[in-house]
Amino acid sequence: MEAPAENLSYDQVALHRWRMSDLDALEQAICESLDHLVPWMPWATAQGRQQTHDFLARNQEEWETRQAFGYAITSDAAVIGSCGLMRRIGAGGLDIGYWLHPHWTGRGLATMAAAALVGQGFQLADIDRIEIHHDAANPASGAVARRLGFAEAERIQAPEGPAAPGEVGIHVVWRMTADEWKERSAEHAQRATGQG
Ligand SMILES: CC(C)(COP(=O)(O)OP(=O)(O)OC[C@H]1O[C@@H](n2cnc3c(N)ncnc32)[C@H](O)[C@@H]1OP(=O)(O)O)[C@@H](O)C(=O)NCCC(=O)NCCS
Repeated sequence: MEAPAENLSYDQVALHRWRMSDLDALEQAICESLDHLVPWMPWATAQGRQQTHDFLARNQEEWETRQAFGYAITSDAAVIGSCGLMRRIGAGGLDIGYWLHPHWTGRGLATMAAAALVGQGFQLADIDRIEIHHDAANPASGAVARRLGFAEAERIQAPEGPAAPGEVGIHVVWRMTADEWKERSAEHAQRATGQG
């Protein structure tokens, strides 16, 4: 099975495949972001250096087994967030996730990182749709999908209820097909690169 490029860039952001040498930078970014991660990211409530180490180790395994492709979001070589492409929605699909250090929000950088992932995801031979899922109480996440031209496809009551303290337990699913992205490709082509 094919893997995406390890280094991507789009406009003002560069993405690189997470590596163990990112441990200190990632740990610092998480510590400084906890207040705004805890409401939405279930893992953030029990966070520490060991968990960050385990996250990076899991990223290596998942990349090798082609289950998920996790990237650091960087700006001028500083780690400012995390994002990834995951094979969690069945054949032909990828879903993407993201978070940013709060100092770097409000500038379009998450949207740029997500655009890099979507462009790269659709270069994988078997991928015909990409989705973004978030809780209904988290419109900032949905706004990234909307800015990229994703269409809201469905809202699903989570059987297990809310997974993080800010959530209401309703999953909003946004979807983009390969054909829809192709129609937008001229808009993105000049701002995106992928290598390695
Ligand atoms: C979700 C999250 C990544 C969104 O971050 P964000 O900064 O709002 O998103 P972007 O980086 O795309 O920035 C968009 C903002 O920048 C502005 N902006 C400035 N320049 C821009 C540009 N060139 N392109 C797009 N937007 C731009 C937009 O108007 C928007 O501002 P607004 O929120 O006042 O409307 C962030 O809120 C976060 O990390 N939340 C915590 C974790 C989380 O919830 N993750 C998702 C779980 S599903």
